[in-house]
Amino acid sequence: MSVNKEIKRITTHVLQKMKHDGERISMLTAYDFSMAKIFDDANIDILLVGDSASNVMAGHETTLPITLDQMIYHAASVVRAIKRSFVVVDLPFGSYQGNSKEALNSTIRIMKETGAHGIKIEGGEEIIESVKRIISAGVPVMGHLGLTPQSIYKFGTYAVRATEEAEAQKLLNDAKLLQDAGAFAIVLEKIPAQLAKKVAEALEIPVIGIGAGKYVDGQVLVMHDMLGINKEFKPRFLRRYLNLYDQILDATKQYITDVKGRDFPNDNEQY
Ligand code: KIV
Repeated sequence: MSVNKEIKRITTHVLQKMKHDGERISMLTAYDFSMAKIFDDANIDILLVGDSASNVMAGHETTLPITLDQMIYHAASVVRAIKRSFVVVDLPFGSYQGNSKEALNSTIRIMKETGAHGIKIEGGEEIIESVKRIISAGVPVMGHLGLTPQSIYKFGTYAVRATEEAEAQKLLNDAKLLQDAGAFAIVLEKIPAQLAKKVAEALEIPVIGIGAGKYVDGQVLVMHDMLGINKEFKPRFLRRYLNLYDQILDATKQYITDVKGRDFPNDNEQY
């Protein structure tokens, strides 16, 4: 297992080479300077400024409410922290569905105002014109298929997608269309592992999974889930690496006890 420490900057070419060499790609979401700095220092390959910020940072039930201005604020904070990682920013709901010009204008704002390296967009055939137009402007595009959270009201459920043949076939076609349009990578969310394997084998570009099994070229998790900041969200695909909710809760309780008990600050903690 290589973590490519010798690579100074992750680019789309580096990611393509990782797929070619069979080296798995690591990706996490980030929304602020401090966490992005830690992830970058740990040599994460891709940081996604996901529209999941709408859930985990702003407390909304879905990703739909977050605005382009809010995504730009989060993305600029992340970009200020990084030296090595490739930073991808989600086009939020309502910033691209109108037409390809709208999609390009939103992308240009993200690229100019944040310094990020690429964008992610949800959907397949229906957004292909936008993907082509954004790429023709020189911006790397990451696709996102399967459970696309911006369509949650159409799906009506967060259950596994593409378990039926027709939806699985459409997903495979959409993945090929995205690759042909020039996308540099695709995220597959919450689909059967065997379908994700088929997609990863059919494509030349990296396929990164979340709840899409072990046969894809890389994995992404939402940082709050990976670090155990969320306690309620427990899907089968999630592996928690810390239990930060309980650790922060305990630390906060101890701080309150120390303040109330006049233990903090002590003689050495004052001027
Ligand atoms: O917004 C997000 O965090 C995402 C990941 C779940 C891939 O799109």
